[in-house]
Amino acid sequence: MLQEISLLRSTIETDIRALEQSKTKDAIEQFRLKHLVRKGTLQDLTDRLRDVPKEEKPAVGKELNALKTLTQNEFERLNEEFSATTATQATIDLTLPGRTLEAGAKHPIRQTLDEIVSIFTGMGFAVSEGPDIEDDFHNFEALNFPPDHPARDMQDTFFMETGGKTEGKSAAHSDVLLRTHTSPVQVRQMLHQKPPIRSIMPGRVYRNEAISARALAEFHQVEGLYVDKNVSLAELKGTLVAFAHQFYGSDLKYRFRPSFFPFTEPSAEMDITCFLCDGKGCRICKYSGWLEILGCGMVHPNVLKAGGVDPEQYSGFAFGMGIERITLLRSGIDDIRLLYDNDVRVLKQFV
Ligand code: DAH
Repeated sequence: MLQEISLLRSTIETDIRALEQSKTKDAIEQFRLKHLVRKGTLQDLTDRLRDVPKEEKPAVGKELNALKTLTQNEFERLNEEFSATTATQATIDLTLPGRTLEAGAKHPIRQTLDEIVSIFTGMGFAVSEGPDIEDDFHNFEALNFPPDHPARDMQDTFFMETGGKTEGKSAAHSDVLLRTHTSPVQVRQMLHQKPPIRSIMPGRVYRNEAISARALAEFHQVEGLYVDKNVSLAELKGTLVAFAHQFYGSDLKYRFRPSFFPFTEPSAEMDITCFLCDGKGCRICKYSGWLEILGCGMVHPNVLKAGGVDPEQYSGFAFGMGIERITLLRSGIDDIRLLYDNDVRVLKQFV
């Protein structure tokens, strides 16, 4: 009997070595059916234990149990190893694309703003900023808006409720408001600094407008101001043409069209030929061939006075442009809201 056990042991050991080589589900199952089931080799020997003489039983039993334990353990080990490998095989899909770490980039509005700032600082302009929350004086009065100017109307301006201060006045006449343009920074700059002043003033502005493809209630502008002795309209044109050539390209065509702003006299708007259709007329330029890019003019004497500057001694020019508008025109996007949706599919096109 001991001999038979030892024979079975070597069979089992050979089977195990074979299994080590080919750990297939099938081979493992075959091993189990051969040795570990009721009709298997080990049970067969166990059944025959009763024929073994009594005095030999302990030794034979011990040997047989040792072989049983070994076989069972080896079976479990091999089975586990097999499931572990198949489990990993199942979870690793080698056809999946690798994971890339994407780099962030400047938002298109910030890109436009930075570019404008760098062109003007290159021409000797300083950069200054003013508060988003303004008062009627800086936003309107000092900029020569008459008291009944429609821009003061609730339709355009977000007036702030100022508690006790607004008492006896309607909200429309509250003195505190969200600035509707960056022009009030001109006034602050003049009150803060004696001429010569050469500054650009980027910032966020607010208007009480319904949000649509063409308008937002919150957007960005860059203001420019140059005040010194003998500043002329020719310098205004020269500066803005130099800017436009750097920003839009040196082969650009432009025109200055008379316009009206309360804070400049004379006032103009600058147009450039539509770069999408090259002046032929398209959807973006509304079939005119021209794109309006900014407002400008010679600073009104009343505005100089409000800024503490003597209009008899000094003159100046100013200009203002909308950053969103310029960004849209440049990229040919026709819905301003796309710039604020934070959809990476849109933003990625500006990287
Ligand atoms: N403040 C004007 C606006 O909100 C833009 C503007 C026009 C600014 C003419 C200026 C200027 O400084 O001279 O639309």
